[in-house]
Amino acid sequence: MISGAPASGKGTQCELIKEKYGVVHISAGDLLRAEVAAGTENGKRAKEYMAKGMLVPDEIVVMMVKERLLQRDAEENGWLLDGYPRSLSQAMALEDLEIRPDIFILLDVPDEILIERVVGRRRDPVTGRIYHLEYSPPENEEIAARLTQRFDDTEEKARLRLQTHYQNVESVLSEYEEITFKVNGNAPKEEVFAKIDKTLASILEKKSEKDSAPAPAGLAH
Ligand code: AP5
Repeated sequence: MISGAPASGKGTQCELIKEKYGVVHISAGDLLRAEVAAGTENGKRAKEYMAKGMLVPDEIVVMMVKERLLQRDAEENGWLLDGYPRSLSQAMALEDLEIRPDIFILLDVPDEILIERVVGRRRDPVTGRIYHLEYSPPENEEIAARLTQRFDDTEEKARLRLQTHYQNVESVLSEYEEITFKVNGNAPKEEVFAKIDKTLASILEKKSEKDSAPAPAGLAH
């Protein structure tokens, strides 16, 4: 799981993690935006909350994320959950299904930097890549001309999203305290990724050692 305040770099790091580890990236925000774009009843309701920087009610988000996690590609390749859970009730919904992550990555970035990142963020609708007008500009004019901005990426809405984040983050952290990896997200994205990569590699190594270890004698038949 990857967590952090709005614009702390969750989506950016997920692109890099997915590329290297081949896991399925499941972003609660992207799932919601797809519902909004499709104009479904859930999408219409969700947009009202998203526009105010508030959490979308559990009855919409929880089912949506659960269904995606249980799809075959996620079960086969492993998943990377981005922006979920954001409340204790959302974490408990996964506990009920005995779904627990190997690691809970928390990106830490000062508030004023977050606001700058939100306001300058743009997305390429063709490739889905995330850019920043200053920190990660598009490669050429053609891409620059087609970039879009999210409806909740204004300074005013970013401050509301930040407030919502701080109201909820502690309860989620307490649930994953033992597996939390806090990383300074206020550094170039490659540096942030290098730290995450090292931790992920060591988790995988431990898992493969555990899988290849002989079964304890007491469990042998
Ligand atoms: P969501 O889409 O998840 O938005 P968010 O949490 O506000 O996070 P962002 O997507 O804004 O940022 P990010 O951390 O992915 O940063 P990014 O990599 O893009 O949620 C939107 C809304 O949906 C919520 O407000 C809520 O209403 C609803 N919602 C979502 N999940 C929910 C849930 N579980 N329950 C209920 N409601 C839910 O980077 C940002 C910018 O910074 C980019 O321009 C990027 O290029 C730049 N950047 C990234 N890393 C760096 C770096 N290291 N240095 C310099 N610039 C960088």
